[in-house]
Amino acid sequence: MSATIIDGKAIAQEVRSEVAQKVTELKAKGINPCLAVILVGENPASVSYVTGKQKALAEAGMTDRSVHLPENTTEEDLLKLIDELNKDKSVNGILVQLPLPKHINEDRVIMAINPEKDVDGFHPVNVGNLMIGRKAFLPCTPHGVVVLLEKMKIETSGKHCVIVGRSNIVGKPLAILMSSRKVNSTVTICHTGTKNMAEITKQADILVAAAGHPSTITKDMVKPGAVVIDVGVNRIPDSTKKSGFRLVGDCDYDEVAEIASYITPVPGGVGPMTIAMLMFNTLEAAMNQNGLN
Ligand code: GUN
Repeated sequence: MSATIIDGKAIAQEVRSEVAQKVTELKAKGINPCLAVILVGENPASVSYVTGKQKALAEAGMTDRSVHLPENTTEEDLLKLIDELNKDKSVNGILVQLPLPKHINEDRVIMAINPEKDVDGFHPVNVGNLMIGRKAFLPCTPHGVVVLLEKMKIETSGKHCVIVGRSNIVGKPLAILMSSRKVNSTVTICHTGTKNMAEITKQADILVAAAGHPSTITKDMVKPGAVVIDVGVNRIPDSTKKSGFRLVGDCDYDEVAEIASYITPVPGGVGPMTIAMLMFNTLEAAMNQNGLN
């Protein structure tokens, strides 16, 4: 048996087309959805992610107010910029690309963003609202995972979802979404303190790898027929590539694909969904701020 490959790129394109259609309708009413993506420094992965977000904004017909600041930008100057964007009524969403240079406190930066413009869903107000089932901006990567499962018509109700990784960006919010009444899975979170991890991951009907390390999930850790969602994006040296690296996920893809029922590739799986859900959140922000939701 060999897994069906989930085409995240195609599903993301579907979401992006739906967003673009709604943007056209909003523009006809004089509303121009606008996102400010702030990048500090030159982290190559971050530069690449931000470029992808800017391309998606252009394709969706949304206004791009991105700012690229030098590595040595002070925290004070970054907070001042966020304050200006918070007050600017023409800006609907603000996203600060993470990680930030070490001299800047990420927590203070996230806290400075107006929760109504926090299209990343990282502000504690949005995290809290998600936790108690109130309307909130959903963080883009976990939301993208749920939409992938939904669009693939993969049954989630009553299934055991095991998430490997407890980050604020993916593992923790995904656990909340997967155990919501709507998705209705039973959730277990594994992390670096978990003993006998394979015993637990082998019980998963839906296994999500979000640990941030290659080869976290090997074939012996997967139940035959499980759905495997790989959130990892790891750069590993590869002298045969012009860039000098290639991207791999957190799973040993080839061997896991032999026994899974569905699997997401890296690249082309969850990654494109993150950007699509960011476009969705920016549209939501514009609608909320114009009294349309
Ligand atoms: N760095 C890695 N993933 C993300 C994300 O979803 N949002 C932001 N702002 N930074 C990231």
